[in-house]
Amino acid sequence: MDTIIIRGGRRLSGTLPVSGAKNSALTLLPCALLTDEAVTLRNLPRLADIDSFQHLLNQFGVSTAIAGARPEDFGRVMTLQATRLTSTVAPYDLVRKMRASILVLGPMLARAGEATVSLPGGCAIGNRPIDLHLKALEAFGARIELAAGYVRAYAPDGGLPGGEYTFPVVSVGATENALMAAVLARGTSRLHNAAREPEIVDLCQLLVAMGAQIEGIGTSDLTITGVARLHGATYMVMPDRIEAGSYACAAAITGGEVTLTGVRQADMAATVQALTDAGVHVAAVRDGLHIATDGPLRPVTLATAPFPGFATDMQAQLMAMLCLAQGSSVLTETIFENRYMHVPEMNRMGARIETHGRTAIVHGVDRLIGADVMATDLRASMGLVIAGLAAADETRVHRVYHLDRGYERLEEKLALIGADVERVGGD
Ligand code: EPZ
Repeated sequence: MDTIIIRGGRRLSGTLPVSGAKNSALTLLPCALLTDEAVTLRNLPRLADIDSFQHLLNQFGVSTAIAGARPEDFGRVMTLQATRLTSTVAPYDLVRKMRASILVLGPMLARAGEATVSLPGGCAIGNRPIDLHLKALEAFGARIELAAGYVRAYAPDGGLPGGEYTFPVVSVGATENALMAAVLARGTSRLHNAAREPEIVDLCQLLVAMGAQIEGIGTSDLTITGVARLHGATYMVMPDRIEAGSYACAAAITGGEVTLTGVRQADMAATVQALTDAGVHVAAVRDGLHIATDGPLRPVTLATAPFPGFATDMQAQLMAMLCLAQGSSVLTETIFENRYMHVPEMNRMGARIETHGRTAIVHGVDRLIGADVMATDLRASMGLVIAGLAAADETRVHRVYHLDRGYERLEEKLALIGADVERVGGD
């Protein structure tokens, strides 16, 4: 397992291209199952999770071809074609490596009338149930069976009739599965209290480009009129708002000045607000955001929330930045039950963070000290990298395979803005 060595204390500056969004790509890829025509996705990030999803789709007989990727390029173009499916089963050994595999359930059910997917199980940040995915599909007419660690979904002959479902809590993945099941239903389907994340809008836009009929895009109330078939499309994956926010925190904690190109400010308004409240200067520039700091960071009090609220996926990264604020910040994690595993590691670097259930109090300190730290999950790992960039000496972040799942070519990007980072193998 690789380790990243960061020799911190350097002020980051320069321009950084933002990659395609991981959490959009992971729901756009399974859309290829919904048609026998070619679907081409541009600006796909080069990430471990994308490779895993490609491998899973290949298991179903989906052909995938990657074009136009020079080694030095960020992003790739992938053309997928599910001419005919050779399997409708997503096996345990693939699903356990990437829980987003559950996103094949809805489209596979819509295309083939049945789907068998290993239950994804929990992960470091929580037990991650899928009950809402299943309830939405049942509301649309699916029959669901749970057996031997698998979920089996069946559509009636002739396909799903469609239906109506109100989510008791906002769920990104369940909204995505329900949308991909409904687009080929025989009737009309409605979703209420649906997720509104930009990645959901991206999914709706690809589905519409493929011929789907969806109303209410971008709102919590979606109406999907089923169509008999969908056709192929070419689509550009949206920029990654979480990657952009992560690098903004990295620039800010080092007192740096970085331009992030390709990001859409509207996707990350809550992050921009939090940075601004912390005293960071954020300005929209042509095709991106300019991040600058010219004084001490200020403490911030906020709670994570579904979009348009502050993204839970930005919590660890903001917390890292606030370790050096002048005063105490109060962060409340309302989405996942165990998303503070970066706290003890940051405290080992000299931070002063205390947690009480879902609330963390970040008492600002004057400096952080480099240390050996352990990555536990994707965003916690980035929080540790951000802390390491501010620490005056050496930080070694172990088990960085977590990072490779969500940050395209992290070391190259950090080096582009002046960081001293090195990846070494085998720890
Ligand atoms: C997506 O996960 C993202 N992953 C997560 O990003 C992100 O943190 C999360 O949305 C929230 O924004 C991808 O898009 C691949 P949820 P998802 O369903 O869909 C509960 C990252 O770091 N829930 O919106 O799994 C759940 O336990 C990852 O990039 C149920 O109770 O999240 C959680 O408390 C981490 N039953 C809350 O809802 C269900 O059936 C929100 O989960 C589904 C969810």
